[in-house]
Amino acid sequence: MVVRKVGVVGCGLMGHGIAQVAAQAGCDVIVRESDQAALDKGLARVRKSLDKLVERSAQGKVPEKERLGKPEADAAFGRITGTLELKALADCDLVVEAIVENLDVKKQLFAELGRTCKPSTIFASNTSSFFIGDMGAASGRAQRMVGLHFFNPVQLMKLVEVVRTRQTSDEVFAEAKAFGEACGKVPVAASDTPGFIVNRLLVPYLAEAIRMVERGEAQPADIDNGMTLGCGYPMGPFTLLDYVGLDTTLFILEGWHKLEPGNPMFNPPRLLLDKVKAGKLGRKTGEGFFKWEGDKRA
Ligand code: CAA
Ligand code: NAD
Repeated sequence: MVVRKVGVVGCGLMGHGIAQVAAQAGCDVIVRESDQAALDKGLARVRKSLDKLVERSAQGKVPEKERLGKPEADAAFGRITGTLELKALADCDLVVEAIVENLDVKKQLFAELGRTCKPSTIFASNTSSFFIGDMGAASGRAQRMVGLHFFNPVQLMKLVEVVRTRQTSDEVFAEAKAFGEACGKVPVAASDTPGFIVNRLLVPYLAEAIRMVERGEAQPADIDNGMTLGCGYPMGPFTLLDYVGLDTTLFILEGWHKLEPGNPMFNPPRLLLDKVKAGKLGRKTGEGFFKWEGDKRA
C-alpha cells in the first residue's frame, strides 16, 4: 500500500470512525472540520472509542488479532491531527470525504481539493447515495476518484464497498482496496450505481418500514422486534434509522427520488420529512423514532 498519509474531511458519525481505523492501520491522518467545536467533538469521539476498544480488549471481548493495548491506542491517537484548513491536506496520498450528504456541497469540496492536493492524491467519497463519477468530474481528476463506502459504526462493521467509475484507474482501485483491507475491512467491488450494493437494498426497506407505520399497520417497536427476532437482524429498521440519522436517510431518498421520480420505492415518507423538520434526527439529537440517552436507547 502506498497510502501513508490520509486526509479525512468531516469528523462526524462516519469521519471520526474512518480517521480512527486509518490511524490504527498506521497511517498519519489529518482531519478537516468546518469549525473548531465540531473538530473537538469528533476527536473526543475517537479518543473515547479507542479507550473503549482498549477496555474491551482487556476483557477479552475483541478477537485476538484486533486487540489494542493502551500504548497502541495512544500511538494511533497521536497519529491524528485536526485542522480547519483544507490546504493542510495538500500532500496527502488519499483524501476520504465524509461530509453532509449534499451533492452540491460535495462537488464544491472536490473542486477545491482538485486545486489544492498534489497530482498523485487519490480522492475517495464515503457517500451513501450519489454517483462517485459526479464528484470525480468536479475534482478535475476523474481517474483518481473512487468510492470508499464504510458502514456505521466504522470501528465495528467489517465491510467497505470500493466503488469504481468507468474512469477510475486500475491502480487507484487497487490502492483503495488495499487501504480498506489495512483498515481491517473486507472490501467488496461495487459499481457506481445509486446505493451501490448495500444501500440499494437497505434504504427502500427502511422507507417501507416507515410507510407501514404511516398506514397504521404496526408500531416501530413491534416492527423492530419482528425483524430482530424473526430475521436475526442485529437491529430493527427503526433503531437502525435512528442510528444512521433520519436526515441522512432523507437526503438519500430525496436524491434518488429526483433521479427516478416514478419509482415508488424512493418516495420520501411524510413521517420521515416531519421528523427531520422537527429536528428529531435520531441518536445524534437524542430523539428520532425512539428516545436516546447518549449511545443507548432510553
Ligand atoms: N467504538 C468502540 N466500541 C464500540 C463502538 C465504537 N464506535 N460502538 C459500540 N462499541 C462497543 C459497545 O460499547 C459494546 O461494548 P460492551 O460489549 O463492552 O458493552 C460493544 O461494542 C457492542 O456494542 P453494543 O452493546 O451496542 O452491542 P451490539 O452487539 O448490538 O453491537 C452493532 C453493535 C455492531 C452496531 C450491532 O448492533 C449491529 O451490527 N447493528 C447494525 C448496524 C448496521 O446495520 N450498520 C449499517 C448501517 S447502514 C450504513 O452504514 C450505510 C449508509 O450509507 C447509511
Ligand atoms: P454527520 O452529520 O455526522 O457528519 C458530517 C460532518 O461533516 C459534520 O461534523 C460537519 O461539521 C462536517 N462538514 C460539513 N461540511 C464540511 C466541510 N466542507 N469540511 C469539513 N467538514 C465538513 O454525517 P455522517 O453520518 O458522518 O455522514 C457523512 C457521510 O457519510 C455522508 O455522505 C453520509 O451519507 C455517509 N454515510 C453515512 C452513514 C451513516 O450511517 N450515517 C453510513 C455510511 C455513509
